[in-house]
Amino acid sequence: MTDLSVANTANQPALDVEAIRRDFPILSQQVNGKPLVYLDNGASAQKPVAVLDAMDRYYREMHSNVHRGAHTLGDRATSAFEGARETVRGFLNAASTREIIWTRGTTEAINLVANGLAPRLQSGDEILVTQMEHHANIVPWQMVAERTGAKVIPIPVTPAGELELDSFHSLLNERTKVLAVAHVSNVLGTVNPIAALINEAKKRGIITLVDGAQAVPHYQPDVQALDCDFYAFSSHKMFGPTGIGVLYGKSHLLEEMPPYQGGGEMIERVSFERTTWNTLPYKFEAGTPAIAEAVGLGAAIDYLGSLDRKAMEAAESALLIRANDLVESVPGMEIIGTATDKVPVISFKIAGLHPSDIGTLLDQQGIAIRTGHHCAMPLMDFYGVPGTARASFAFYNTLNEVEQLFTALQKIQRLFA
Ligand code: ALA
Repeated sequence: MTDLSVANTANQPALDVEAIRRDFPILSQQVNGKPLVYLDNGASAQKPVAVLDAMDRYYREMHSNVHRGAHTLGDRATSAFEGARETVRGFLNAASTREIIWTRGTTEAINLVANGLAPRLQSGDEILVTQMEHHANIVPWQMVAERTGAKVIPIPVTPAGELELDSFHSLLNERTKVLAVAHVSNVLGTVNPIAALINEAKKRGIITLVDGAQAVPHYQPDVQALDCDFYAFSSHKMFGPTGIGVLYGKSHLLEEMPPYQGGGEMIERVSFERTTWNTLPYKFEAGTPAIAEAVGLGAAIDYLGSLDRKAMEAAESALLIRANDLVESVPGMEIIGTATDKVPVISFKIAGLHPSDIGTLLDQQGIAIRTGHHCAMPLMDFYGVPGTARASFAFYNTLNEVEQLFTALQKIQRLFA
């Protein structure tokens, strides 16, 4: 029951979860008198010492503005900041750092693309999204559709929470201009077959954007292999700081797109007669950027790179298997999202209990989950629920913590349902 080092397949070393947990100081505290069991990683993941130290060191030893100062600290800050961009490039296997744009997060990245593609869109054009998208990959497209007369069309999902691939194929037509799809669903945990979707879209010259916010904590995407036009993600879900994210974009599209915001850094020359734009990636980076956060994200990527990916994936899938095995132990519990290919996320309901009450009662046991609509109201409508309770696991969670969740749920069900 308390075996913390998750066993892997025959030839693989197990992930040393106990050692990993020591890298995350926030995890070893008591909440409401109980050891913290943090299962809200889908909302925001915790940060290893490597990230905290990198940001601390940056502020203690290097801070200045970037690309500006004629002095040593300015050089140090710039090289740490641009070094982090190169780390992100390597993580995504992008062809060039010109294609790596810093944003505030996934949401801003998608807004930037929707805004930048507006000049390509006209009345009657179609933007395909999916029924399982986060609002961040729906609303920016609705806003651009409103401006241009384009339409936002959802690809339906099956009751198991997988995309209806036949519907996807039949929705594609000569009016389809953009396909914007989550790599991984934040509610269901479904891993979408994005390589196949992108491949189909490419055949028709459709521009593709992947919302990778929920994928990067679990996988390392290769944007050249995927051949997507855009890939967006946030730092804070992948063990880096809040306030920063990344937009990868193919340079020929980024070149063509208008800037998103005006200000310092994004210009080449300003005059009252005519202003010209800076080169990529700076054209999209108006204002002083989140420098320490970029450094922190670079450290998070390095930290992930120091772990055995295969062991990590095996450990995460062992957590999901254990959780699925335990569902029957809670009368009336139902998982929403049973796709074959899933990250370790379980959205669930329990007959007779409101999701927010489940969240509050678990919190009293020191167990943190998320409840509500998860910024995915169209998906909640599809399942006919106002919201769900969601436990989202990371590689630092243990089988013991999964068991604690279910023991607490059994108790809550017995006493309150
Ligand atoms: N989008 C984040 C989540 O799913 C906040 O929790």
